[in-house]
Amino acid sequence: MRKTVSLLLFFAMVLLLAACGQAGVSEEQGQLLSVVQKTAEQSKTEMETEPSESVSTGKQEEDVSTKTLVVYFSCTGTTELAAEYVAGILGADIYEIVPEVPYTEADLAYYTGGRADQEQDDPDVRPAISGSVENMDEYDTIILGYPIWHGQAPRIVSTFLESYDFSGKTMIPFCTSHSSGIGSSAVSLHAICSESAVWMDGRRFEAGVSKESVQDWIREIGIE
Ligand SMILES: Cc1cc2nc3c(=O)[nH]c(=O)nc-3n(C[C@H](O)[C@H](O)[C@H](O)COP(=O)(O)O)c2cc1C
Repeated sequence: MRKTVSLLLFFAMVLLLAACGQAGVSEEQGQLLSVVQKTAEQSKTEMETEPSESVSTGKQEEDVSTKTLVVYFSCTGTTELAAEYVAGILGADIYEIVPEVPYTEADLAYYTGGRADQEQDDPDVRPAISGSVENMDEYDTIILGYPIWHGQAPRIVSTFLESYDFSGKTMIPFCTSHSSGIGSSAVSLHAICSESAVWMDGRRFEAGVSKESVQDWIREIGIE
């Protein structure tokens, strides 16, 4: 808009100068002419130097660049450590899935018929999450970490996936476990997420995984 006004002003002044040149000018008209001339030159400089509104500035480029969110669920800190490494290496934001009702030690004692066992027995259970990600739209890559519970992701991860629209986003799962691989746990999550989310293969990490191993994985999948 500013550029258009400058352009119009510039041409108006060029015409005025031409008209004055033809007619001959008095001393007062000459002073006026000199002011007009300076303003015209200033307008011309502005037109030449003002950046076009369609050209991205550094800030705009930052805004449209890919943004990654590391999301994790962890009851005893193993997945949390790996998630923190991932976020630290990538300089990504991090979000913890916090259960509305925390899991006690008794809840987590597996093969006892406790809370976690019961939840994993029923694929329709959706434990409530405390808090939410306000700006999910800003992220185009989600790195999702969880512990393996009876071969699958904890049901609260399903609650998380059903809480947002992941259409078009890249989903990268990873898990931690005592010994099981990631197996079908990630594939089971695809069905409860938008069809247009793009899932990459997942990776399992052992307890006490090193930052170097996490770094190697990030290099392997090419998201560094
Ligand atoms: C209810 C429950 C079920 C589990 N099932 C498995 C399993 O099937 N295979 C396995 O290797 N580890 C299993 N584990 C162990 C966890 O996957 C492992 O300790 C994990 O790294 C814990 O992650 P966290 O510290 O982030 O909570 C289970 C743990 C719990 C609480």
